[in-house]
Amino acid sequence: MAIRNIRKDNDEILRKISKKVEVIDDRILTLLDDMKDTMYEAKGVGLAAPQVGVLRRVVVIDVGEGPIELINPVIVFESGKIIDEEGCLSLPGRDGAVARPEKVIVRAQDRNGKTFEKSGTDLLARAFCHEVDHLNGILFIDKVIPQEQLEKK
Ligand code: NI
Repeated sequence: MAIRNIRKDNDEILRKISKKVEVIDDRILTLLDDMKDTMYEAKGVGLAAPQVGVLRRVVVIDVGEGPIELINPVIVFESGKIIDEEGCLSLPGRDGAVARPEKVIVRAQDRNGKTFEKSGTDLLARAFCHEVDHLNGILFIDKVIPQEQLEKK
């Protein structure tokens, strides 16, 4: 168990594409454990490996229903749309409104290498999308809807 340093702001690693995990070895298991510790310590609801400087497709999420570990996550279904405030541990103080699907299903591997699917609505759906974006070098600020546009609606 260890707290890792969270990469922030213009750190270039946040813009890189993470590699698929081919073998779930001790390094990946330690990474998962450290990422959970780091997420809870920072009081976040999700964390992706590039945020701790590791370009691997590994994500942890806890929206208050217990920890979810995702290895090689892929969004396989999405429906609906909700615009809500979103933030990121890597971009402190820069919250903004982002449109995300209301419901998604994510397919991933667990720490034993078993493939599973998990559906999420509202905040959990948002977290799945936000964290998978991180693995592709995409940050929520790329998707923020400007205030002027929100007011027009
Ligand atoms: Ni984030």
